[in-house]
Amino acid sequence: MQTVFNGARYRSLYGFRHYLRPYRWQMWVMFVAAFAMVAAATLVPLVIKAAVNGPIARGDRGALVPVFFAALGLGVAECVLIFVRRYIQSIAVLQVETNIRDDLYRHLQRLAVAFHDQWQTGQLLSRATTDLSSIRRFLGFGAIFLVVNVVQYVAVCALLIATYPPLGLIVSAMTVPVIWLARRFGNEYSLLARRVQDQQGDLATAAEEAASGIRVTKAFGRGTLLHTQFVRQAEVVRGSALEMVALRGRFWSLLELIPNIVMALVVLVGGLAVAHHSMSLGALVAFTTLLVLLQWPIIDIGWILSMAQEAATAADRIQEVFATVPAVVDPPVPATLTEPRGRLRFEHVSFAFPDADEPTLRDIDLDLAPGETLAIVGATGSGKTALTALPARLYDVTAGRITLDGVDIRDLALADLRARIATAFEDPVLFSMSVRENLVLGRPDATDEEIEAAIDLAQADFVHALPWGLDTRIGEQGLSLSGGQRQRLALARAVLARPAVLVLDDPLSALDVHTEAKVEAALARVLRDTTAIVVVHRPSTVALADRVALLEDGRITAVGTHSELMRLPAYAEVLTVDPDDVISAGVPR
Ligand SMILES: Nc1ncnc2c1ncn2[C@@H]1O[C@H](COP(=O)(O)OP(=O)(O)OP(=O)(O)O)[C@@H](O)[C@H]1O
Ligand SMILES: [Mg+2]
Repeated sequence: MQTVFNGARYRSLYGFRHYLRPYRWQMWVMFVAAFAMVAAATLVPLVIKAAVNGPIARGDRGALVPVFFAALGLGVAECVLIFVRRYIQSIAVLQVETNIRDDLYRHLQRLAVAFHDQWQTGQLLSRATTDLSSIRRFLGFGAIFLVVNVVQYVAVCALLIATYPPLGLIVSAMTVPVIWLARRFGNEYSLLARRVQDQQGDLATAAEEAASGIRVTKAFGRGTLLHTQFVRQAEVVRGSALEMVALRGRFWSLLELIPNIVMALVVLVGGLAVAHHSMSLGALVAFTTLLVLLQWPIIDIGWILSMAQEAATAADRIQEVFATVPAVVDPPVPATLTEPRGRLRFEHVSFAFPDADEPTLRDIDLDLAPGETLAIVGATGSGKTALTALPARLYDVTAGRITLDGVDIRDLALADLRARIATAFEDPVLFSMSVRENLVLGRPDATDEEIEAAIDLAQADFVHALPWGLDTRIGEQGLSLSGGQRQRLALARAVLARPAVLVLDDPLSALDVHTEAKVEAALARVLRDTTAIVVVHRPSTVALADRVALLEDGRITAVGTHSELMRLPAYAEVLTVDPDDVISAGVPR
């Protein structure tokens, strides 16, 4: 086997073997059924041989009846066995596929945000769908028939040699060109398969972006341009796929040619042997019928090998994801917070995005007393969003540490930490679920009263006006809601989680002045007894905070009250730079 199949190429696929373990008996039944089926098919020519040499040669019609029933019985047995194998296969192998997909999904969830920053969605999607199907096809069919065909091939060759050694040896010799061809094909095909599968991932990414970015594309009237780019990409995939088809075509036709040449040889040499009475006519008939049985395994090898290569490539691509170790993990022995009060400290924290040359945050020192609200003010790109991602460990700090009630947050179980720290993001993502399901994401056991209170607080009572109220399914990423509505839902979601620490990244940016004032008033109530970091842009929101920190180019350059900081030109500039405020205040710049 090792000569036909390069073992290293199948290492990833082999890595999935433990998924088969629970289906051991099903695999055995599949093998046995497959073998029995092949055996039944192989016996038919032998029955024919017996008929030709016996009853037919003797002209004994009565003796044909048992031969007829034997052939019929074998045919029916073959049918039943195919059914049994397929039935068991579809149950077991679909389950295996589902299990791998579940694990992949779980692993993707465990991987840190940094991983998802670096991987294209389409590449992950294609791995979780197309690649997994390739593996399923191979496990359910290819792998079994690979073994069955090889055994059939060897068995038939042995039978042929036993029937008439000289001819049998000629036939067996065709193994050599078959193996040589298979090796060459395997090498070329695996390279192509990898290319096609990667390109399919890129295409999936393009399709995904085209769908999620449809508004931008339309607004800029760039539909045609993107379409042209997409078509070009699709052409590339098509080109590679065609190369695969051409390669398969060449290989398969050469594979077909080999047994046909052998058949011609057999007819010639066998005819001469019968003429010289060194072989019976029945033996020649059986021989040629058996030879046909040999043709199938050889032709099958063609597509089984293609399937195997595709599955091996798919396995490589999936294992690449599995091989990525989550960067943010639970500590081996999680600490417990004995007296949770919500004191949050940044101690000399520096942070650099993976692959970034420069740190985004440098030497941040902040100390938030329980219940205190700290506003973060800074120019765009100064690192405010990066800072808000750290307390919930979406990324881990690169230096220094963050503590919650004196415990390094890396020593807390992730679930525990994230139950205590809720974050509302700048760009609020809502899921394709009902409003209620979106809201209770952080607290599945929230009561109706609590949900109402959170909605009230975030001034999100527009949800009651939706067609089915809280049970309205909101579109993909909440597309059917306005930016301000989404922001208010995200705020309600964060508040509902009743965290000890609330992290709000610019939660009011998409609200009109009127709603903003209302949400601010409501927020003021929540923030009274919750520790909070709030990224703000407008002077009015700063009023919510007890203290303000000025972030400049990744460093905290000043901490103090609003009026203290107003004396700093850098602070005044950042806070008044917002054009809305400038316009509403009627201040000419
Ligand atoms: N995932 C990422 N990988 C690498 N660099 C990033 C990533 N996200 C942001 N950056 C970079 O880090 C810096 C800080 O970004 P950040 O999003 O924290 O700014 P911000 O202060 O929130 O700006 P804004 O006010 O526009 O929201 C920027 O220079 C940005 O380009
Ligand atoms: Mg930001």
